[in-house]
Amino acid sequence: MTHYSNNSGFTIWFTGLSGAGKTTLSHAVHEALRDRGVLNVEILDGDIVRTHLSKGLGFSKPDRDTNIRRIGWVCQLLTKHGVPNMAAAISPYRDVREEVRKMVGRFVEVYVKCSISVCESRDVKGLYKQARTGEILHFTGIDDPYEEPLNPEVIVETDKENIEQCTQKIMTKLEEWGYL
Ligand code: ADX
Repeated sequence: MTHYSNNSGFTIWFTGLSGAGKTTLSHAVHEALRDRGVLNVEILDGDIVRTHLSKGLGFSKPDRDTNIRRIGWVCQLLTKHGVPNMAAAISPYRDVREEVRKMVGRFVEVYVKCSISVCESRDVKGLYKQARTGEILHFTGIDDPYEEPLNPEVIVETDKENIEQCTQKIMTKLEEWGYL
């Protein structure tokens, strides 16, 4: 019996470039979990967190690290109290992702992989265009780093697989780990 045997909490941590599909996928997994009877799932999305918990933070490494540590802290609390949760933030730095993984424990890292050219062609928020013209500086993947996960639990390739396939991969992994 593991220490966590009575705990239904876990964190699904989506990492990847802007426009890779982290938010979309988190909503799809939310629905899939609901269909399995897993209710009261919380989603912490970088874009939203930055309007309150991380309001005022920018995109330097220290600011991004602070943002990720804050999100990770909330994930840790939710997981500890049995609330399944997901984080959808670029989280470009490997060291802080590893820090959060250790803090949370029941942690499923999902690398939402998508080529920069496809993310840029989607340009959902028009930010890549602004990054190319220099209106936005330090944009991840353009003039700021993204460190790929070395050992993520799941890799989904949103430029090759559809949303159902990606969702299924994640659900299968949750079953394998005994989280469902
Ligand atoms: S993180 O690096 O701290 O994890 P987070 O996921 O919260 O980033 O926020 C990323 C979102 O902020 C992007 O999807 C985009 O909408 C917006 N954004 C604004 N400026 C930047 C930038 N310089 N680099 C990346 N994303 C940016």
